[in-house]
Amino acid sequence: MKKIDYGDYEIRTAGIDDLAAIFHLGEQLFRADAVSNLYRTWDEYAVTSQFNAEPEFMLVAVAQDHTVVGFAIGSMIEKAATTWNYGHLVWLGVQPDYAGKGVGSALFDAFRDVIQEQGVRMMLVDTQADNKTAIRFFEKKGFTNPIGHIYMTLNLDPNQA
Ligand SMILES: CC(C)(COP(=O)(O)OP(=O)(O)OC[C@H]1O[C@@H](n2cnc3c(N)ncnc32)[C@H](O)[C@@H]1OP(=O)(O)O)[C@@H](O)C(=O)NCCC(=O)NCCS
Repeated sequence: MKKIDYGDYEIRTAGIDDLAAIFHLGEQLFRADAVSNLYRTWDEYAVTSQFNAEPEFMLVAVAQDHTVVGFAIGSMIEKAATTWNYGHLVWLGVQPDYAGKGVGSALFDAFRDVIQEQGVRMMLVDTQADNKTAIRFFEKKGFTNPIGHIYMTLNLDPNQA
């Protein structure tokens, strides 16, 4: 994608030099106690594997002082049985100092444009049911039809039975 200049920050495709900053920002935002996802966790692997597999779907918002202040990381899901491709926005994060200034919205719009250029006709996002900020954000971006999904756990530790 071409860089998009918003004055205070720009949105562009991430490069290898951005990975450490993305990882550290994600560590702040996706702490297990704050935004826990049982089926995926934020770690170095989440960033590097995604960068290696689909670098075109990893975008950053970079402030004038070159600080990474936000990122969008996604994946394309091709379904064999249908002509529809899904664009899954897996991680979206904005540095708290920059929250509420439109950075998340700009990252989202840029990500949507990139996947649309790749022929994606349906976008998919997911978050925890109690992440009201994210749900409000996605509703604002036009998402509807939330579907609940229940995760259950079974403790297999014999000492805890
Ligand atoms: C969700 C998140 C990316 C939003 O980024 P942001 O840059 O603050 O969002 P924007 O400033 O672009 O806001 C866009 C819209 O979202 C809504 N929104 C954003 N933050 C909100 C909040 N705290 N409460 C309610 N609505 C909110 C607003 O309606 C806003 O529209 P408006 O400007 O017309 O009022 C950011 O809060 C974040 O990084 N959260 C932690 C990580 C996370 O939960 N990611 C999503 C799941 S992967």
